[in-house]
Amino acid sequence: MNLILMGLPGAGKGTQAEKIVAKYNIPHISTGDMFRAAIKEGTELGKEAKSYMDAGNLVPDEVTIGIVRERLSKSDCESGFLLDGFPRTVAQAQALEDILSSLGKNLDYVLNVDVPKEKLEERLTGRRVSPTSGKTYHVMYNPPKQEGICDVDGSELVQRDDDKPETVRKRLEVNIEQQQPLIDFYTDKGYIRSIRGDQDINVVFDEIDELLKGIH
Ligand code: AP5
Ligand code: ZN
Repeated sequence: MNLILMGLPGAGKGTQAEKIVAKYNIPHISTGDMFRAAIKEGTELGKEAKSYMDAGNLVPDEVTIGIVRERLSKSDCESGFLLDGFPRTVAQAQALEDILSSLGKNLDYVLNVDVPKEKLEERLTGRRVSPTSGKTYHVMYNPPKQEGICDVDGSELVQRDDDKPETVRKRLEVNIEQQQPLIDFYTDKGYIRSIRGDQDINVVFDEIDELLKGIH
C-alpha cells in the first residue's frame, strides 16, 4: 500500500497518519518529523532546515527530495509507505515519480484531507505535542486523557516552535499557494481521493479506512 497524505498545515495529516500506520503496518514518513528530529540531533540537515521552518517557509526542494529518496530506498518500505507532507510542490511530485519508478513502485492513492482554511489557525495554535511519544493533542478538540496537559507517560506537553501565531499565518499562506497545482497534478493522474477533514477525528479515519480496504 503506497500512499500520500496531503493537506494544509493543521488539516490532520499527523493525526490520521498515526491511525493508518497502526492499522496497516506501513512506515510513516513525515518530512516535517524528519526535519524536527534532525534539528533535535543538531545535524547539518537540521541546521539548514531550521531557518526555513522557523520562518514558516518550505525547505528547498533539493534538500527535501534527497531525504525522501534515501528514506524510500530502505527495506521497510518494500511492503508500502505513507508519505505525510511530501510532496508539497509540483517539482517534488515530479521528483517522486522518478524515485518511485526507479524503485519499481506505484502509488495507490493521494489522500487529500480537506479542511476550510478558517479552521486551521485555531487547530495549529491549540496543538500540543508530547516530546517523548511524539503524540499530537489539541487543547480543545483532542485533549490528553490524563489530568493536566500531560501525555500518557506523564511527560509535559509542549507547543511546536512553528505553532506561534505569526509563523502559523505564514505557513498557511505558503502552503495554500502550493496546494492547487499539486491537487491538479494528481487529479490528472487519477490518484486523488478527497476526504472532509472537518469532522470528528474517528469519522475522518473511518472514511479513509473505507477507501483503503478497497486497495488489496
Ligand atoms: P509539517 O510538520 O509537515 O507541518 P505542516 O504541513 O504544517 O502540518 P502540521 O504537522 O502542522 O499539521 P497536520 O496536518 O499534521 O495536523 P495534525 O494532525 O498535527 O512540516 C513542518 C515544516 O517542515 C514545514 O512548514 C516546512 O518548513 C518543512 N517541510 C515539511 N515537509 C516539507 C516539504 N515536503 N517540502 C518543504 N518543506 C517541508 O493536527 C493539527 C491539530 O488539529 C492537532 O492539535 C490535532 O489534535 C487537531 N486535529 C486533528 N484532526 C482534527 C479533527 N478532525 N478535528 C479537530 N481537531 C483535529
Ligand atoms: Zn504533521
